[in-house]
Amino acid sequence: MGFPKEFLWGGAVAAHQLEGGWQEGGKGLSVADVMTVAEGDNDATKQRKITDGVLPGHTYPNHEAIDFYHRYKEDIKMMAEMGFKCFRTSIAWTRIFPNGDDAEPNEAGLKFYDDLFDEMLKYDMEPVVTLCHFELPLNIAKKYGGFRDRRVVDMFVKFAVTCFKRYKNKVKYWMTFNEINNQADVNVEFTAFTNSGVQYQPGENRYQTLYQVVHHEFVASAKAVIEGHKINPDFQIGCMVAMNPIYPETCKPMDQIAQIKEMERNFYFYADVHCRGHYPSYMLKHWENEGIEVKIEDGDLETLNNGKVDYLAFSYYKSYATKYDEKTKKPTEAKNNFVQVSDWGWPIDPIGLRYSLNVLSERYELPLFIVENGIGLHEARTANQIQDDGRIKFFAAHIAQMKKAIDEDGVTVMGYLPWGPIDIVSAGTGEMEKRYGFIYVDKDNKGDGTLDRRPKKSFFWYKKVIQTNGEDLSV
Ligand code: BG6
Repeated sequence: MGFPKEFLWGGAVAAHQLEGGWQEGGKGLSVADVMTVAEGDNDATKQRKITDGVLPGHTYPNHEAIDFYHRYKEDIKMMAEMGFKCFRTSIAWTRIFPNGDDAEPNEAGLKFYDDLFDEMLKYDMEPVVTLCHFELPLNIAKKYGGFRDRRVVDMFVKFAVTCFKRYKNKVKYWMTFNEINNQADVNVEFTAFTNSGVQYQPGENRYQTLYQVVHHEFVASAKAVIEGHKINPDFQIGCMVAMNPIYPETCKPMDQIAQIKEMERNFYFYADVHCRGHYPSYMLKHWENEGIEVKIEDGDLETLNNGKVDYLAFSYYKSYATKYDEKTKKPTEAKNNFVQVSDWGWPIDPIGLRYSLNVLSERYELPLFIVENGIGLHEARTANQIQDDGRIKFFAAHIAQMKKAIDEDGVTVMGYLPWGPIDIVSAGTGEMEKRYGFIYVDKDNKGDGTLDRRPKKSFFWYKKVIQTNGEDLSV
């Protein structure tokens, strides 16, 4: 009973959110380098701007981030002190291929990750690596329109293969695209850019674009899986999907249908193709009904089938609710009165994690890896240790639900990686002050601060959780 002995406790970050060093070691500009910090009084509605290049008069928080590029040894040491069995980060594509379409990789970039992985391995910390985490080369976005262009598939595969070959003896766990499904809502222009380097043009059929882009990413992911297994048959290569379970508002039959449709559109489609290796009939019918024509080249469907993932990784932060709207005859978002929300308006729902593990395990029968979970909090800089009891409560409740899924529901979970074990730049708002860490970093939204690191109360709590293999969740 309880967590398996080899359970992967650790934490997760993404290169652009912590490395900084945006122009060092030959790194090119990525899409994250042209995103500003969001401003405004309302946490829940603040939005970052995407500028046309790096312009004067703006704050670009990812340029320096928390300077992990220079301080990674100190940071990895602190993760080791917490007892991390693994650490998830991404490889910045622009460190390896600064423009995305370069003929040769950049040796200084490759060397940086060699050194980083060696540092982790020194502490028996397994690297878990995402290949594409919201940091496409800006050149790919500008010159090719991002993943609209089929040629970008080969660029991604070349990048993936370069990494697989170089790190084949250091990294076993890989993921292709981070949260590939969070671009599903085409009204959100931001995620089209962060995920795929796409900027929608006035008047274009955004769904047509989305599904073509996503087809290219599915093929790129499947090709990477196929090539990766050739390079090292022991590789475990997963997809990564944002799991925001959507509940029906009531037991009205049409609310159930609304729920299924919303889950298909926002989640299942993306996981289905990666895990089952083919396009599901509900989506083929939807495309037919909407007149969407996805250009699928000869051999693509075979590639999808041969490039199924080894495991399903997902992030879990929140859940939503939906209902059938009689007037529009469409699903519409509903309020869930049974959950609280964070300052940034994210519903807090620990049982939703158990629910997600059950649903995904039943549907895919694959090992599941929780590669992100956490809560962003405001934390005042104080002289003494930060007493982040709110974070401890959040994690204790989620870990307890994960344990039930393992012990009572028979779900196979590979590991659990809290998001942002050290304070980093928020992807959604660019803020430093939306803090997720067990480790406090002295830097504010304007970029001021010493960058000093300090353990918070939760640092010692999580250390104990890992030491007891998840048995002791008490404060
Ligand atoms: C996920 C991303 O969407 O959520 C991370 O994979 C991101 O990159 C995390 O940081 C938390 O979101 P945010 O907007 O609070 O940073």
